[in-house]
Amino acid sequence: MRIFLDTAMIDEIREVARWGILSGITTNPTLMSKNAGKTHEDVIREIASIVDGPISAETISLDTDGMVTEGRRFAAWHPNVVVKVPSTPNGWAAVKRLADEGIRTNVTLCFSANQALFAALAGAYIISPFVGRLDDISEDGMQVVRDTVEIYRQHHLPTLVLAASIRHPLHIIAAAQAGADIATVPFKVLEQAAKHPLTDKGIETFLKDWEKFSHEQR
Ligand code: E4P
Repeated sequence: MRIFLDTAMIDEIREVARWGILSGITTNPTLMSKNAGKTHEDVIREIASIVDGPISAETISLDTDGMVTEGRRFAAWHPNVVVKVPSTPNGWAAVKRLADEGIRTNVTLCFSANQALFAALAGAYIISPFVGRLDDISEDGMQVVRDTVEIYRQHHLPTLVLAASIRHPLHIIAAAQAGADIATVPFKVLEQAAKHPLTDKGIETFLKDWEKFSHEQR
């Protein structure tokens, strides 16, 4: 399973790119709005200069023509741009048209395996089931990821399953166990998952013991 960062903040992207584990970026209008003073294009181009992998940029149109127009514009910014459209009939229609033009899409705001199936049939490159938002309403969000992986495998659908709306480190493990191709993770959650107090304590002890050892050798 690949790890994407769910952010539009350049400093967070630079930091995780440094770790050597980052394969792509997902953004959305809420995440993008934290970049006051920059244009959508500026931010996407800057991200593309840091990360060599798929970068999702989200459309805001509600109609298919609008999504297709936005999608063509975003795709011209950089070859790694993946156009995000919502899980609606207009969204699937846009996926079909953009796929016919060779433009990759990420179908977002997916909350059911039916929606995931329809996105794949339309030709989506990525489907994004939102795990945390389903958990928030007392549903098992990860079940949609499991069902989608099973359906895609059974029917040989090539659309990648991206576990989105990840809220804590256990979601990352569960997404990997469910067979998701990608998990997109907020910076805070990635930091939580990266740290372990026993690693820090172990480093501290090793350094202290090494200091004693090297002192005795002088
Ligand atoms: C995915 O592409 C979305 O940007 C994201 O995962 C939404 O997460 P949230 O439910 O925490 O806002």
